[in-house]
Amino acid sequence: MKDLFGDALLDYQNGNYSEDIITSTNISDEDILPLPYLFRDYKDMHKLEKHALKLCKGSVLDVGCGSGSHSLYLQKKGFDVKAIDISKGAVKVAKLRDLNNVEVKSLLDETDTYDTVLLLMNGTGIFQEITQVSKYLSHLKSLLKSGGQILIDSSDIKYMYEDEDGGYWMDMNAGYYGELDYFISYKGKKEAPMKWLYLDFETLKLACESVGLQCKLVLEGEHFDYLAQLSL
Ligand SMILES: C[S@@+](CC[C@H](N)C(=O)[O-])C[C@H]1O[C@@H](n2cnc3c(N)ncnc32)[C@H](O)[C@@H]1O
Repeated sequence: MKDLFGDALLDYQNGNYSEDIITSTNISDEDILPLPYLFRDYKDMHKLEKHALKLCKGSVLDVGCGSGSHSLYLQKKGFDVKAIDISKGAVKVAKLRDLNNVEVKSLLDETDTYDTVLLLMNGTGIFQEITQVSKYLSHLKSLLKSGGQILIDSSDIKYMYEDEDGGYWMDMNAGYYGELDYFISYKGKKEAPMKWLYLDFETLKLACESVGLQCKLVLEGEHFDYLAQLSL
């Protein structure tokens, strides 16, 4: 991984903002991911994110923290929060923004236990592929203290396959429709392609049940997006 995501966050943090990140997927054209959005403060957060922050309790693990926006909000509120990300650049930026407890670490390498585990901005993306969902959910379950919760958001992206007649063009034999190839470029450089998983709520709920987690729909957004709360 070249860590273009981290490079972009570092540029923005260091006052060198000139371009945004360009994203695309195997089923969609190029789109812009504006860097300021990755530094959003509470007032600019989506309602699902605000709600997730309101539900936080006790010790919190922020998985895939990016520049640390959610953790910084919680830190200011006095929460005991730890943030992890696989992007070295993102972790550097979170430290520069004065986040106290943040480290370069992959979710599967985390072993401490928490009252709240937060995965936001399509948290299920970190699972990458439908075949890995049980492995990630079982691991997340192992990070919960008694009475603990996992707060995770995602979207049902079936709408992306809808044609003008209201029919769907996805190939039902081609695997789960929310499993996308995701491409990022920044300042003319291309990141290695990655897998990014969007999970509809019913599929997430079934997967949770199979590993002994309860899964509650907490809030729905305006565009097939939702926030779920998983617990023991
Ligand atoms: C869409 S960004 C969201 C960043 C941040 N949560 C936000 O809402 O602004 C996803 C983040 O997850 C990180 N990530 C991806 N896979 C990860 C893993 N296995 N463990 C920890 N972080 C991961 C990426 O490096 C990236 O910073």
